[in-house]
Amino acid sequence: MNPEYKQRLHTAAASIKEKSNVSPEIGMITGSGLGGLLNSIKGSDIHYTDIPGFPNTTVEGHPGTLKVNDAVAVCGGRFHYYEGHPIEDVVFPVFLLHALGVKTLILTNASGGINASFSSGDIAVITDHLNIMGVNPLREVYDPAYGPRFPDISTVYAKTLISLCHDIDPQLKEGVYAAMQGPSYETPAEITMLQTLGADMVGMSTVPEAITAGFLGMQVAGLSCITNLAAGRSAGTLSHEEVLATAKATEKRLITLILKLIERLSAQP
Ligand code: HPA
Repeated sequence: MNPEYKQRLHTAAASIKEKSNVSPEIGMITGSGLGGLLNSIKGSDIHYTDIPGFPNTTVEGHPGTLKVNDAVAVCGGRFHYYEGHPIEDVVFPVFLLHALGVKTLILTNASGGINASFSSGDIAVITDHLNIMGVNPLREVYDPAYGPRFPDISTVYAKTLISLCHDIDPQLKEGVYAAMQGPSYETPAEITMLQTLGADMVGMSTVPEAITAGFLGMQVAGLSCITNLAAGRSAGTLSHEEVLATAKATEKRLITLILKLIERLSAQP
């Protein structure tokens, strides 16, 4: 890891600890249109712009605020590779949450449904992923002080967390999330390819964060809102507006699930 990145990380973590002296064990990074979640959680709001060393978000639907309390630290707004952020900035929040003491990371995102049994508006828990982004964050941020050179991330989407999510919301779907670089949506042929490879849904985030979480020894609960049917699977045109509108319509159910998940995880010894 480059020393300047390490310094930024120390500075950012120290500034958060100074503003709010808590060490939550649950962390979360929220995706498109899920900013409303922040209002449902009590705690201190710290704008990303007030955290020295922190990158800044640009895409609509990503407010860019960290919310912290004793139980949870929520990064409301993520850094996407398609925005042009270097991959080490994409995973900066994961390192930061780790520095605050986070052990379980909840990652939410919006995705296009590939599995024929998925409908727009469904929520799916991620059981595994396909990294088709053409980039691995650990190429840049590996450091022996943080984790192994060749980390085993085969159980990063922990079975216990998957079962817990199903327990809380029995209607929940589950499946493999494929991450593409974006920002263009996929072609129908690419969706057929992803389906052949075993993907149930496709998006443009989450995987770099999950890989980093695995490297750092954290466990991930990945929750994906199926905001649209993937390219070629419906007659309509794909748009960010549709993604945000479906995410908004699904928000209440997702927030209920996440709040219960936090409650159950916090109650565990
Ligand atoms: N493809 C990629 N990313 C997405 C999609 C999609 O169909 N929907 C929401 N994010």
